[in-house]
Amino acid sequence: MSLRRFPNAVNISSEILGQQLKFRNGRVSQNRFLKAALTEILSTYAPQEPKKHGLPTDTILNIYDKWGNGKFGMILTSNVLVDPTNLEAAGNAIVFKEGDSHERRALFSHWAKIMKQDGALAVMQLSHAGRQTPELVNPTPWSASDIQLVSAARFTTYGKPKPLTTEQVKKEVVDRFVYAAKYAYECGFDGIQLHGAHGYLLSQFTSPTTNKRTDKYGGSLENRQRVIIEIFDAIRAEIPASTGFLIGIKANSVEFQAEGTTLEQAKEMCRVYESKEFDFVELSGGTYEKLAFCYERESTRKREAFFLEFAEQIRPVFNKTVVYLTGGFRTVFAMVDAINNNATQGIGLGRPITAEPDLPKKILEGSVNSAVQDSFNQNDMAATAMASGSQMEQMGRNSLNDAGRNIMDQISDFSNDETVQRFDQALADHLVQAGIDIADGKRPKPIVVFN
Ligand SMILES: Cc1cc2nc3c(=O)[nH]c(=O)nc-3n(C[C@H](O)[C@H](O)[C@H](O)COP(=O)(O)O)c2cc1C
Repeated sequence: MSLRRFPNAVNISSEILGQQLKFRNGRVSQNRFLKAALTEILSTYAPQEPKKHGLPTDTILNIYDKWGNGKFGMILTSNVLVDPTNLEAAGNAIVFKEGDSHERRALFSHWAKIMKQDGALAVMQLSHAGRQTPELVNPTPWSASDIQLVSAARFTTYGKPKPLTTEQVKKEVVDRFVYAAKYAYECGFDGIQLHGAHGYLLSQFTSPTTNKRTDKYGGSLENRQRVIIEIFDAIRAEIPASTGFLIGIKANSVEFQAEGTTLEQAKEMCRVYESKEFDFVELSGGTYEKLAFCYERESTRKREAFFLEFAEQIRPVFNKTVVYLTGGFRTVFAMVDAINNNATQGIGLGRPITAEPDLPKKILEGSVNSAVQDSFNQNDMAATAMASGSQMEQMGRNSLNDAGRNIMDQISDFSNDETVQRFDQALADHLVQAGIDIADGKRPKPIVVFN
């Protein structure tokens, strides 16, 4: 199979990408690559049966068997949800007290183990969807305030959220995150990452667009960030830094919307993460209302990373907290350039590694110097995310042992124009069927099962 790749502007050594990253608590990542969180929506969905709800499936384990052999420094899970009723999608993995069982613990422990096969750190991303919970999952999810999500970029509607009372913030948010972090620790994960970006609950608190509260969780930036700091402190009280357990956060560098978090506010929040001794921060941007995974300017397109200019300005606040930047990286040149320009220390990869789960390994060996160049419009997040979802399902069809150790087995080559045309048709059919299912009151299938 001959894959078309993004042209690498200048041929440059990838050596720097293979350097270790050291965390303040002494843990070490074997190189600078981060597998970003990518929701698979392939866990079980059984809201009426807590013990069967949100269990990782064999498909998920097979997917991570591939990434666990891809030579990442750190591998994040997809968003694992902490509240069984506030999901990003029906089919998320969930960790919650009422759902605890030997089966769940065994599955999560196995998940951690296969992520670490070739030396990567296994980190669970913890999230609470809040007002970004689809209406079909829950018409009245929690949020900081009762601001409904209207102009969704996805084929989904969202109900009007209920604002959490001050007491509920502790019970429904802080306690749930702490429970899930302890669970991750007990199951052998090396750390957790709080999902504080992309408009999910924690960023509903930090963003002035969605936080209109007048109690200690609203108003000033300090108040809006309070819930995150309370979660951090409560986790550290249970799992001290001396255990080596990492705590990081995915944070927005900017939200391009009215009243959205500004660069200055993001910088201020990052200053707090540094002083609170977060182990790492992954910089991203945007929300469902204003997706930002695209090139807003020509200067960004050349340098690939969507949030590079923001990262460069935030970077100086970090000293001991390790910084990752995710979004848009496609060539070795751009990755090395971002590190040399001190915009970031680590490189997060999302869509390129569903096309090629061992991209870091190939880059470090020097056998490739860029990602597969698919034929989708690169600014079309909906289509490229659906395509990535399909590739993950394909990755999950067998383990490396079944696949005779061919890591690319079954993965569609979207650098082939004809395959992309067929996918576009499959996606169009999928959306028509989703419309019919929704009209019939049924849950639509979350991903396009392709080929
Ligand atoms: C299919 C898909 C699922 C995603 N799921 C998550 C998620 O669960 N948590 C998260 O923080 N970001 C999620 N993202 C965002 C990615 O982590 C990443 O920030 C984004 O794709 C930009 O990186 P890229 O240009 O390398 O793809 C998702 C993106 C895609 C395409």
